[in-house]
Amino acid sequence: MERSERAHTTVLVVEDDAAMRDLLFESLSEEGYQVETAPGGRAGIERVRSGGIDLLITDVKMPDLDGLDALQEIRAIASDRAPPHIIVVTAFGSIETAIKAVKLGAYDYITKPFEIDALLLAVDKALNERQLRREVARLRREVARPYQFDHLIGRSSAMQAVFLLLRRLTSSSTNVLITGESGTGKELVARAIHYNSPRAKRPFVAVNCAAIPDTLLESELFGYKRGAFTDARTDRAGMFVEAEGGTLFLDEIGDLSPSLQAKLLRVIQEREIRPLGANRPEKVDVRVLSATHRNLEQRIQEGGFREDLFYRLNVIQVALPPLRERTEDLLLLADHFLAEAARRSNKPVASFDETALKALCNYPWPGNVRELENVIERAVALGESSLLTPDDLPSQVRQRRTSDVLAGAILRDLTLAQLEREYIERMLQAEGGNKTRAAQRLGLDRKTLYRKLEEYERTSTVEATAEPAPAAPSEPRETTVPIPRQPPSILSED
Ligand SMILES: Nc1ncnc2c1ncn2[C@@H]1O[C@H](COP(=O)(O)OP(=O)(O)OP(=O)(O)O)[C@@H](O)[C@H]1O
Ligand SMILES: [Mg+2]
Repeated sequence: MERSERAHTTVLVVEDDAAMRDLLFESLSEEGYQVETAPGGRAGIERVRSGGIDLLITDVKMPDLDGLDALQEIRAIASDRAPPHIIVVTAFGSIETAIKAVKLGAYDYITKPFEIDALLLAVDKALNERQLRREVARLRREVARPYQFDHLIGRSSAMQAVFLLLRRLTSSSTNVLITGESGTGKELVARAIHYNSPRAKRPFVAVNCAAIPDTLLESELFGYKRGAFTDARTDRAGMFVEAEGGTLFLDEIGDLSPSLQAKLLRVIQEREIRPLGANRPEKVDVRVLSATHRNLEQRIQEGGFREDLFYRLNVIQVALPPLRERTEDLLLLADHFLAEAARRSNKPVASFDETALKALCNYPWPGNVRELENVIERAVALGESSLLTPDDLPSQVRQRRTSDVLAGAILRDLTLAQLEREYIERMLQAEGGNKTRAAQRLGLDRKTLYRKLEEYERTSTVEATAEPAPAAPSEPRETTVPIPRQPPSILSED
């Protein structure tokens, strides 16, 4: 770390021995760091709590507090802010304590007695790492920005189109119907629309139409007046009134009964509600967002849903594609959920190994993003190293027979042209270099194949495909291209 940067770096020394404390203060100050000291664990924790400490050097043995307990407390304080890096000082021969400390999140340890230079080196190393981490976090944020809208993440063209639509929707008050399979993010979209609209400061009220029995749902939605029925001892405002000026989210709208469909239609048309037992209607100003995993057009055909209501709700439709149709998002989301789960559980889980990634790419995700989120949460909870392996995934995900080529192609970000080229070259290999047979199997005429091969020849630098390959179907060539990883959009650290 440059000396000029040291002046902006605060090191806190927690040490009960005054002579030692002074020595460390002097040496670190001489190196250009901002140094603060605390005479014991309690005081140290209080200082960390008020923020701004980059590095903490602490003894494990202190009269007022065990250093390991202190570590735990510090991790708990700092879960939202960037916690300080920690170096623990242990007595000679207590390597076990040192290891425990590192498991609890200390960055490094140093054993007493130590040379002051050894400590300064450890300090420099820790602070360099801290700087690097910050830089990575900043870059991740930067790179991820175009891939999100509110809490929604996605870089597939389908999701980019959804974000574009959502951006346009925010300034209007039109009703929106959100469709998509279970777990595709319908509720997240509804919230994103509300919280980015001029109504954001007014309430967002969500009702699950499938979860509430019909009779109850009516009074939930529209409210009732005292005496409307036997148990109605007081007036009760319905959700339309609660959402006044804001947004009402009608989830699972496809499950609404015919009688409530008729009532809802009237409310939307007239912009007024009539609570049970009321003699006069009341004006309401509510934006209605609705969602369903059902195919409403089909429900209309079958007579289960009113067409006129459908048109009122479906002024604009946001259709969320299933996760299996947007593999580009899968890795981005997986990384995001991994970082989140690791942060929550305070585990240093960094990524998936390649086989685990392939398994994730090949599984069809019937439960969509929610299922992915759960699978990763579980993997982080079970995982024992910083690299997750297929063993950390549930059996249904792990056991999918993998189509190596496609999973690999996606992981390696191949374009269609690159994939085509690999396929053609592989086929030629399998046919022992016989172009006629290869063309037949590829469904190409020979001229086209020749033309493509010539093109490859021209564009390639070092390629071995011009030579006839062994006739036996060879092992798929494993390319050692590093896997392009998408950074998560929300940070695990800093
Ligand atoms: N694009 C996304 N980016 C980040 N998280 C997402 C995305 N889509 C969904 N999620 C997460 O997946 C989970 C399911 O999302 P949500 O509840 O919005 O789905 P849903 O379509 O309403 O599902 P259901 O039909 O089962 O009610 C939530 O935890 C949500 O945060
Ligand atoms: Mg939902």
